[in-house]
Amino acid sequence: MTVYLRNDGVFCQTHVHGVNMATYPIAIDRFMNQTPDLFAPTPALREPIDDGAWLLRGFALDQADHLLEAIQQVAAQAAFRHQVTPGGHTMSAAMSSCGLLGWVTDRYGYRYGSRDPLTDQPWPEMPPILRQLAVEAAEASDYAHFEPDACLINRYETGAKMGLHQDKDEEDMDAPIVSVSLGAPIRFLFGGLARTDKAEGWKLEHGDVVVWGGPSRLFFHGVAPLGKRAEHPATGAMRYNLTFRKVRA
Ligand code: SIN
Ligand code: FE2
Repeated sequence: MTVYLRNDGVFCQTHVHGVNMATYPIAIDRFMNQTPDLFAPTPALREPIDDGAWLLRGFALDQADHLLEAIQQVAAQAAFRHQVTPGGHTMSAAMSSCGLLGWVTDRYGYRYGSRDPLTDQPWPEMPPILRQLAVEAAEASDYAHFEPDACLINRYETGAKMGLHQDKDEEDMDAPIVSVSLGAPIRFLFGGLARTDKAEGWKLEHGDVVVWGGPSRLFFHGVAPLGKRAEHPATGAMRYNLTFRKVRA
């Protein structure tokens, strides 16, 4: 926990659940005016996206550099690759995975596997800093006891996208999906249970986290192509997305 001194002499927490409260002046004011049993900061910090779905802006911001380092460490063992869908389409986002299970697609279908098909080695362990962030983001979204066993890492370059899809290869549909954005901003699309349901767009920036589960666990979602001018000092013209899931029930 970090504290700073307000003008009126009151000490404030500046980091709560990994969120830099200094970027939330309104939240701090509400936070300081609350009675102790309302001390939980999360309601002021999360934006509802849909039923059971929340956008936690800046939730990962203060850890972003460490998260990016952890991604590079994973990628040193399990290199980013462009996978092919069963339909023969090469995905524009490059992918890697860490944790017990990695998400794989090839000509034969989509699945989770315990080994990287490129090396035939187990996927790299999920770095504790990644796991911790995912658990805290789930908690801040009222999904207690999230135990992710898979972390898919997507890397987007200019023009790369992810078409509308459901995350439905998991056995455990009680656990939420926790999705962390790092680097260049992108437009995230969140629809409904049917592919044709209208999808709403949300700009996701460096350090933003989206969590969905419960009634929206199987909602269609994706990202629009990464814009030509999209960039961030930490990653240049690239964007990374970490998707944490609990696959095994
Ligand atoms: C995904 O849902 O597979 C990726 C979403 C994102 O990159 O934000
Ligand atoms: Fe997804």
